[in-house]
Amino acid sequence: MPTPHPRVQRSMQLYQRALELIPGGTQLLSRRPTRYACGVSPVYAERAKGARFWDVDGNEYIDWVSGIGAIILGYCDPVVDEAVREQLSRGTMYSINHELEIELAEELCRTIPSAEMVRYAKCGGEACAIAIRIARGATGRDKIFFCGYHGWHDWYLAANLSAEANLNSHLFPGIEPIGVPKALADTVFPFAYGDLAALGELFDRHRGEVAAVIMEPLRSELPPPGYLEGVQRLAREHGAVLIFDEVSSGFRIRLGGVQEFVGVMPDMTVLAKAISNGYPMAAVVGKRDVMEHAARMFISSTYWSDTIGLRAALTTIRELRARDVPGELEWFGTELQRRLNAVAAETGLAVRCGGLSVHPHLHFVTDDAALKPKLATLYVQEMAKRGCHGYPAFYLNAAQGEAELDQTVAAARETFLLIAEGWSAGKLDQLLECDVQQDVFRRLVR
Ligand SMILES: Cc1ncc(COP(=O)(O)O)c(C=O)c1O
Repeated sequence: MPTPHPRVQRSMQLYQRALELIPGGTQLLSRRPTRYACGVSPVYAERAKGARFWDVDGNEYIDWVSGIGAIILGYCDPVVDEAVREQLSRGTMYSINHELEIELAEELCRTIPSAEMVRYAKCGGEACAIAIRIARGATGRDKIFFCGYHGWHDWYLAANLSAEANLNSHLFPGIEPIGVPKALADTVFPFAYGDLAALGELFDRHRGEVAAVIMEPLRSELPPPGYLEGVQRLAREHGAVLIFDEVSSGFRIRLGGVQEFVGVMPDMTVLAKAISNGYPMAAVVGKRDVMEHAARMFISSTYWSDTIGLRAALTTIRELRARDVPGELEWFGTELQRRLNAVAAETGLAVRCGGLSVHPHLHFVTDDAALKPKLATLYVQEMAKRGCHGYPAFYLNAAQGEAELDQTVAAARETFLLIAEGWSAGKLDQLLECDVQQDVFRRLVR
């Protein structure tokens, strides 16, 4: 463990305490300090409001990770929080059902173009597992093709039982499927994003056995023209259920998700994160002929009907529509990209801010693959010291505004200059005050 920077002493003390009691230290890999500039970046938050949070050492940050994508309206959104408070005063869950369950289902069917029926869950990975169960139940088949990250459950990690590199480009290299039943080997297979021919060959090899194709339809770049249409055609030809995992993409590019933007309708869609602005909630929505199979399957849990998640999701979706948040994020992201690219040109740093405007990311321009994590860590380190928390990628939320843009661009100007000078002088290592980032989620769908 590196000597912590004085600004995060308490954060790092807490992390040491956590490591004694909590295997792995955190509940989510993306909250591990080794994902950031460990020893310089904040690890423990004390409170958050709007676009910002305060850490346990009293530092204030603009949060460019937006609660790992769960915060879309901003922290403590007054309308969502008031609705939740009102719901709290009536009790959060009961022995019987609540009408909110139906109201949210109706709202989701109005909002997500392919939705006709709805089931609930509390988080994205769990909702993906439900979608896979329904697809297997509906088709009577076992095999699954996947592209992207879909949570921690056995059905997904089983991919690495057949070949240890199967999850490399979808999750990250080196995942050992420890604890996953070996009997699940050869039930789940990855496919490369954008390569329709390879997916066609995979279908040919497993003809008549494939229950579902589950994929992140996009993350930060547009799909190649005709690609998602091609995936849909192959799935239909082979009688497989097409599932779009919109846990991270949902509600951002359009209120109805990527499917509304590209006009390709999956059979099922998985939603979580931004659906409820930070309150635990997830949903599986889909076409009636697939979803109705769930009625005869055992898919059941106490907290899926909790009214806080239902109320938060209903209010969040209505607010996203009323405030045209997808339109706002597009404008804001375009502006962020334009201003960061101007700073890159001004400071001479070989970095570009690209990707979809609703999910911009920085790309260091170098052929030296080993250098990229070092440059990224330096960026994270220097931005953290200037009150900007994040990766070289930006999860936008509607509470971010001019003040956040100005502060971030000013911080980037100093950071880019420092890195550009260190890079040309061959002194990047001397600038690093921490170890290079580890556990990077290497996403196929960026
Ligand atoms: C596309 C996608 N699917 C599933 C998940 C898992 O969601 P959760 O962490 O809520 O279980 C994530 C989380 O990052 C995700 O991005």
